[in-house]
Amino acid sequence: MSSDRYKALKGMKDILPADIHIWQDVEKKAREVFASYGFLEIRTPIVESTAVFTRSIGENTDIVEKEMYTFEDKGRRSVTLRPEGTASVVRCYAENHLYNLPSPQKFFYSGPMFRYERPQSGRFRQFYQIGAEAFGSSRPETDAEMISMLKRLLDAIGLREPHFQVNSIGCEKCRPGFKNALLSYFADSLDDLCPDCRRRYSQNPLRILDCKVDRCVEMRKGAPRVIDHLCEDCKRHFERLLSLLETLGIPHTINPEMVRGLDYYTRTTFEVTSENLGAQNAVAAGGRYDRLVKEFGGPETPAIGFALGMERIVELLRMSVKYDLPAPEVFIAALGERAGDEGIRIADDLRKKGLWVEFGDGTASLKSQMRRADRLSATYVFIIGDDEMRSGTVGWKRLSDSAAGAVAVSDIDDFLTRKP
Ligand code: HAM
Repeated sequence: MSSDRYKALKGMKDILPADIHIWQDVEKKAREVFASYGFLEIRTPIVESTAVFTRSIGENTDIVEKEMYTFEDKGRRSVTLRPEGTASVVRCYAENHLYNLPSPQKFFYSGPMFRYERPQSGRFRQFYQIGAEAFGSSRPETDAEMISMLKRLLDAIGLREPHFQVNSIGCEKCRPGFKNALLSYFADSLDDLCPDCRRRYSQNPLRILDCKVDRCVEMRKGAPRVIDHLCEDCKRHFERLLSLLETLGIPHTINPEMVRGLDYYTRTTFEVTSENLGAQNAVAAGGRYDRLVKEFGGPETPAIGFALGMERIVELLRMSVKYDLPAPEVFIAALGERAGDEGIRIADDLRKKGLWVEFGDGTASLKSQMRRADRLSATYVFIIGDDEMRSGTVGWKRLSDSAAGAVAVSDIDDFLTRKP
């Protein structure tokens, strides 16, 4: 029997209690920031029909070509574990006719995504995203608000020095001109491209710009830039966005090489990177996708969104932000069975009031119970022995400075409010 049989799958990892407070803090702050921009939570299934993703993300993308967890279910339908959230939210928006509600409709989500990538630092096969999507506005002001919301969130969680990169990849009007420019640029050196890119050349040449193979990266130095091929409307949209980012005081750079690895984007795309991460340095990314709702059978509806990668964010926060681990307010050390009855009753009472109370093992010595309280970093230890039972009190000890005393059982609430 293989020893890997009872191990987590490659590229999938457990999130242990020692880390979970960082995750919860990010999730809590995300909810607060999203609420201040009017985004409501949406939850879609983790498994969808494969077509939901192939159609939207694009047949010739790395995700669809190589990375999807696709299988046949028992009804012989091809289903896929979602590799990202946008396609599912768009499918949900169109299927539930959410376009009939007042526009814009704004949603956020969080949860696991699955991509069968080569696992490495910062790249997992199950990873978590928090994402936001806004439907119904084509205005560059919405792009700016989206980017500013992402910035506010990164500031709120204490991420240092996020670096915003923006680009525009045009629309269906400017795309054909750009595509032709790309085709002529690569025409003479087709044989030097990797086999995937040779195929992409005829099927979807834009994807050559996203290839990670070294020689393709090298060959596209000097390739035409989409930003130089924008139509008037796209140019105006992009210029307005840049000026709004100035107005909002969001430092950014224009990265004309950023095409993003998904086919659905139109116009604005953006990524946030951090120098403190290794090669996989994008912590969040997004963009506009004005044609996708229509492709899913809804009316023409402009939309824009982003998603941030939780593992990478948590990694950065672990390096830079100090978190206090949660600890019990009270540890009850009871000595013997009778004291144990009193102890468990007091513990029950305090927990009803929402306090974190740990109840020690009454058969263990006081010393060993104190040691456990110490290891848990409890604020107070309440000690209940024969003497305390007789006098209707509990002995207390504050572990931070060893202050000690006694308090009547009837005064415990008051004692914990005053925290002497
Ligand atoms: P994406 O760039 O594929 O975009 O992923 C967004 C973020 O998810 C990345 O910047 C990264 O932090 C994280 N991420 C992606 N793949 C992995 C992985 N294998 N392991 C760990 N983290 C990963 C999207 O998914 C789009 N749906 C974003 C979007 C929303 N565009 C519009 N709306």
